[in-house]
Amino acid sequence: MMTQHLLASGPAKNEIQAHRGASAVAPENTIAGFKAAAEQGAQWVELDVALLGDGTAVVIHDVTVDRCSSSKGHLKDMTAADLSGIDAGSWFGERFKGERIPLLADVVPELGRLGLNINVEIKQHPHQTSLEQLTKTVHEHLQTRAAHTQVMISSFDPDALRAMHALDANYDLAMLWSKLPEDWADRLATVPAQTIHLLYKSLSIGFLEDAASRGIKVRAWTCNDPRLLTSFWLAGLTGVITDDPSLFLK
Ligand code: G3P
Ligand code: MG
Repeated sequence: MMTQHLLASGPAKNEIQAHRGASAVAPENTIAGFKAAAEQGAQWVELDVALLGDGTAVVIHDVTVDRCSSSKGHLKDMTAADLSGIDAGSWFGERFKGERIPLLADVVPELGRLGLNINVEIKQHPHQTSLEQLTKTVHEHLQTRAAHTQVMISSFDPDALRAMHALDANYDLAMLWSKLPEDWADRLATVPAQTIHLLYKSLSIGFLEDAASRGIKVRAWTCNDPRLLTSFWLAGLTGVITDDPSLFLK
């Protein structure tokens, strides 16, 4: 019997994730970006988590604030108190002036209020010398989530996924790759993870069929043109991580 996803010509609605929030229309990894995702009708957001020098977990992609704020500085040199002076919105558009680099502690309850599920991408940066501190911090914040908030953990670092698995074996874990390693199935098993988040340019029909036959989910990142994925849904592609969920929600 064919499974539901083999009959699909596009992603299920709950398989469309807003990359860094709806980052095509609002500044990435901000509350405004997450609200925009909810307004578009997305059910999931992907966000990036890193630690400041004082150990505070923040939602930001880069190791500096330079690209996505009006300030400059490395995360390792910052404390939570510094964030209130950083405008993370004006670089994207004047109407977002005053938007902040958010604390994970604030984002988790806000996403609960917005009814959004969370794909937490754990970023491994050189200044984060303790993987245990990083993963324990993420885990502790996720304990505060609303009962209706679903979470998954993704990372390019298999050790981060392993550490999250050790903290709670029920975490849904996704291995991130830009290029598919030949021994992908063995690598996945050592985490253990049941899901791959793969750069959309690295997808192939053969890989998707192989993954589907092994019960492995595959989501594509970061794709902003639904036409590029058309042939992959029938081969078993599970979901998409996109800057603009509205393109896939049509
Ligand atoms: O989770 C998919 C995607 O976010 C991975 O790459 O660099 O945008 O965090 P990046
Ligand atoms: Mg990411």
